[in-house]
Amino acid sequence: MHIKDFLHRLGHLATNYIQSSENNIRKDVLNASLTAWRVNKFKAEPDVSEKIENLRQALSNNHKVINRLDFGIGIGGKPSLLNLFHQGFPSTVSISKLNRGSSKPEKWAALLFWIAKYKQPSRILELGTCFGISTAYMEYGAGKDAEIDTVDGAEEVLEIAIQNFQYLFPFRKINTYSGSFLEILHKDQIQANKYDITYIDGHHHGMALFKYFNIITELMNAKGILIVDDIHANESMTKSWSEIVKSEQVEYHIDLYQLGIIQLK
Ligand SMILES: C[S@@+](CC[C@H](N)C(=O)[O-])C[C@H]1O[C@@H](n2cnc3c(N)ncnc32)[C@H](O)[C@@H]1O
Repeated sequence: MHIKDFLHRLGHLATNYIQSSENNIRKDVLNASLTAWRVNKFKAEPDVSEKIENLRQALSNNHKVINRLDFGIGIGGKPSLLNLFHQGFPSTVSISKLNRGSSKPEKWAALLFWIAKYKQPSRILELGTCFGISTAYMEYGAGKDAEIDTVDGAEEVLEIAIQNFQYLFPFRKINTYSGSFLEILHKDQIQANKYDITYIDGHHHGMALFKYFNIITELMNAKGILIVDDIHANESMTKSWSEIVKSEQVEYHIDLYQLGIIQLK
C-alpha cells in the first residue's frame, strides 16, 4: 500500500468509532439491519452463512490459475488518470488468491444480507461480482422474488460466479453482465430498471465513484439504499465520498469505514 494512503487509512481508523454513524441512524430499514447484524454477531442466518462460507472455502482451496482483465484499482492501488476508465489490464491469478483478496469477508457480507433482508428489494444492482460471494449474501437476504443484476469486467472470473449461482440458486434470477462498469451502466437492459439496493464494490477511484453515483442515482427508486465498498481506500475515495454524501439526493448516510451506506430521499 502507498505510504500516504496507509497513513490516511490509519487516521480514519482512529476516528472511526467516534464518527461512526450509529448516532445518526434513524429507526428504519438500516437501523433494523444493523441491529440484526450486531445481535447475530456479525453473521447472516446460520444456514445461509454455512452454505456461502463452504463455497468461499472451496474457492480458497482452488489453486487453478485463471486469466482476468483487471479493471479497477484495488485497495491501496495508486489512483492515476491512466487507470481511471481504462479497458482493463490482462493478468493471471489463482482462484484462491483472488478469492482471499477480493471476496467480501463474512462479517461485511453478512451486513449486506441483513440490509437485503429488511429492505426486501424488488431489484438489486451490483458492480463487482468477482466469484459471487457478496451477490449470494444479498440474494439470500432479498429472497426468491428479487432480481439481481451483477457486473464484472473479468470474464473468466464471472464464469466461475455463474457456476456458483447455478449451484446455490438454480431457479433464481441473477443476471450477470460482462464488461466495464461504465459500459454496462449505459446498456438499455440496465437503464430500463429501477433498483432498491445498489452495491458498488470495485474500481476504488474517487472520480470513477462520482461518475457511477451520478448514473446510479437516476436508476434508483425513492428511499433506495446505495452501499459503497472501501470508501476510504485512498484519498480520492474519501474525497468523493465526502462530496457525494452532501448531494441533494442523499437523505442520510452511515460511514462504517469499510463500507459507506447511503439512504436516498
Ligand atoms: C472486490 S471485487 C468484488 C468482490 C465481490 N463483490 C464479493 O465481495 O464477493 C471487485 C471486482 O470488480 C471488478 N471490477 C473492478 N473495476 C471494474 C470496472 N471498472 N469494470 C468492470 N469490473 C470491474 C473486478 O474484476 C473484480 O472482480
